[in-house]
Amino acid sequence: MPRPALTGLRARLLLGLLLTWAVTLAVVALALLQPLERRLRDDALATLTRDARAARVAVRGLDASALHPGDAQARRVTRALGRRANAQAVLVSRDGRRIASTDPDAEVALGIAVRALREGRTLGHISDGGAIPVAHVAVPAGTEGGPVALIFYTRLDSVASAVRVVRRAVIVAALIGLVTALLVGTLLTRPLVRRLRGLRAMALRVARLGPHVEVAPDPRRDEVGDLTRAFATMQDRLREQEQARRAFVSTASHELRTPVTSLRLMLELLREEIGREPPPSADQVRAQLLDAADQAERLGRLTDELLDLSRLDAGVPLARELVDVRAVSRVVAHELDARAREAGRTLLADEAQASVWAVADPGAIAQIVRILLDNALRFAPRGTPVRVEVADDGRGACLVRVRDEGPGVPPGEREAIFERFHRGAETSGTTGFGLGLAIGRELARRMGGELTLSGDGAPGACFELRLVAGPGGGDDAPARPRGS
Ligand SMILES: Nc1ncnc2c1ncn2[C@@H]1O[C@H](COP(=O)(O)OP(=O)(O)OP(=O)(O)O)[C@@H](O)[C@H]1O
Ligand SMILES: [Mg+2]
Repeated sequence: MPRPALTGLRARLLLGLLLTWAVTLAVVALALLQPLERRLRDDALATLTRDARAARVAVRGLDASALHPGDAQARRVTRALGRRANAQAVLVSRDGRRIASTDPDAEVALGIAVRALREGRTLGHISDGGAIPVAHVAVPAGTEGGPVALIFYTRLDSVASAVRVVRRAVIVAALIGLVTALLVGTLLTRPLVRRLRGLRAMALRVARLGPHVEVAPDPRRDEVGDLTRAFATMQDRLREQEQARRAFVSTASHELRTPVTSLRLMLELLREEIGREPPPSADQVRAQLLDAADQAERLGRLTDELLDLSRLDAGVPLARELVDVRAVSRVVAHELDARAREAGRTLLADEAQASVWAVADPGAIAQIVRILLDNALRFAPRGTPVRVEVADDGRGACLVRVRDEGPGVPPGEREAIFERFHRGAETSGTTGFGLGLAIGRELARRMGGELTLSGDGAPGACFELRLVAGPGGGDDAPARPRGS
């Protein structure tokens, strides 16, 4: 699927790197360059102030007669002071006139000197009017001829050049960082994107051709490698499911064919016999029709069970409601009572009056109990009892046990009997399809419970259905009967 270039993984990673780079640069500019410049300017002004204050001693020593413009002594002292401080110096009279200066041609604003004299304290500032900032300091000094002010001023070339050097270094480092980030980003994302694209192509191939497509392994121990391995595991699982589905369809069609074939044969035989002379007796016809009806009934049972399984496989939701499990199992037991008596077995339902509550689907519970009782009535010998017991185990589970005194299940088959179409080796002569317990277990699990063959050591078989007990647990807990 075509994707706008900027939403791709590589573009987004590179944009992320660019953003990180830009933010880092801005932080460096704000946190390093500006404070550095401020600090250098403050230091330069402080040095100039210190030098100007130190120069006051020499100014105080001037004669009163030297305090007028053009005086040679004043000029000499001013120049000496300027040289010593490595700055320009201007000596200013009380009325704001220039007495002497190191650079007579330079335009110097004398206002700072007048203000320093008026306020009687040192004043200093940095003016940024020109290309290079200039620091000015004015100190008042008393002389024999009255107070004068000394101005020191100097261009902050060193500050400007230091800031320039640092700024250039930051820009060079930033450019190197940018190129490195883009290079590393591209080098890292290119193989990653290539591997992800390979994985995507593989997923599309599997979608098109099925789970049997070969998946190229990715041995690398990173997230993409993990993803490829997870993909391979998913594919294995899909293959198994596909195989199970095929096996199920083939077994189901095989199972369907047997009763259909024998039904067809029986009916053809009957038709031939009816057309023959002498015609068969009514008893013979009835016997053959009964056999055919048996086969039809068997066929009906199989299609019902297959339908149940397909509904379960399709994930048809089960109800989740409060059910009186004892009442439901009693109803099912009574339903099968006549059949049990006909077959010479005694069905002993749990006749206790107290309700036992579970959160489950009443129809599904009834179906499971029916499956278990059907098995017990078929496999247990004549004359033996089949018992249904219902209890709350007091630890959040509600149990239904169906117990018989038949041959039981051999140890090697305890789990296999829950598989689809698995019929026990010792009961293979019976007419079942091996689907009942598979349906029962699936239903139990879908209700959050489990169906197991209990190993309590008693002779015969004891199947246990475990369900989630209703709120409060225990017999008779809630007051909302349901499910009978
Ligand atoms: N009460 C039991 N006593 C002894 N063996 C049992 C009992 N219940 C089930 N089995 C064994 O488990 C196997 C699977 O049972 P299941 O109910 O799944 O299938 P079935 O009864 O053979 O056929 P279906 O239930 O589909 O008609 C049975 O064939 C039988 O061998
Ligand atoms: Mg069965």
